[in-house]
Amino acid sequence: MDMCSSSAKHPVLLEKTKTEDNEDKSQVKFQENEFIPKLQENTVHSQVIGECSDTRKDLSDAGSSSLPTLQKFLPTNYNSYTKEHYSYAGKNIIIQESIESYGAVVWPGAVALCQYLEQHSTELKLQGATVIEIGAGPGLVSIVASLLGAHVTATDLPDVLGNLQYNIFENTHNCTVHQPEVRELVWGEDLELNFPKSAYYYDFILATDVVYHHYFLDKLLTTMIHLCQPGTVLLWANKFRFSTDYEFLEKFKQIFNTTLLAEFPESTVKIFKATLKWD
Ligand SMILES: C[S@@+](CC[C@H](N)C(=O)[O-])C[C@H]1O[C@@H](n2cnc3c(N)ncnc32)[C@H](O)[C@@H]1O
Repeated sequence: MDMCSSSAKHPVLLEKTKTEDNEDKSQVKFQENEFIPKLQENTVHSQVIGECSDTRKDLSDAGSSSLPTLQKFLPTNYNSYTKEHYSYAGKNIIIQESIESYGAVVWPGAVALCQYLEQHSTELKLQGATVIEIGAGPGLVSIVASLLGAHVTATDLPDVLGNLQYNIFENTHNCTVHQPEVRELVWGEDLELNFPKSAYYYDFILATDVVYHHYFLDKLLTTMIHLCQPGTVLLWANKFRFSTDYEFLEKFKQIFNTTLLAEFPESTVKIFKATLKWD
């Protein structure tokens, strides 16, 4: 089964939004169609709804003003690439992936959040919203947020920025109102220096599958906290695999007002909405 080849495969959304802290499982109802995101499968869509026709060209074709930024991140030296196809916001999106890096593959949480953003873009007021994605990987979520009208900054570790920039440019050039920006953001490092609170306000922080078996969970939490200001909404989608993932969630809920927006029982992906507790 591919990740999003059929519009019939909707995520399993909770019938009503619930506060995770007070979750009453008996009240949770699901739609019949279950959505099981999978990693590393070909995701060719049977029907291409739309495409930024003039974006399928080399970055070298970019306008001269964009070139310095683009060249900064090139090349990314993966030996094996594959192209995966998605369809969101009425556009065909092609993501260049490589199995050589966690950050060069689209993860299940990204697919889940893209569907959520697409289905709820109006109520979220994404049009014109300022959005930062942390751990953006190959960029699918940032691309979708941008196609839905948001002003997006996609961030990640230095070694994946080349591929991220490539995917973002190829999929948004000439078809978004605000051309997304790609920036280095290493969790917990130089946050106030590179993203001073006085200069940057984000309506949304997006994060997908940033919690897994790694040693930077505290720094990730510090980063989420730093990027939050009053009114900032954090949308975090994650596949829950390990006990450490649930331990992170417990810590997270102590710091953020946390609402479970959607969950996907088969794949154990959950989407949370959170705002920082300010007291
Ligand atoms: C599992 S991948 C998820 C990628 C993408 N968000 C998705 O869902 O498809 C985790 C991402 O977090 C990034 N990451 C891991 N550790 C990081 C750190 N210390 N600082 C910044 N980004 C980090 C990785 O480079 C990678 O892109």
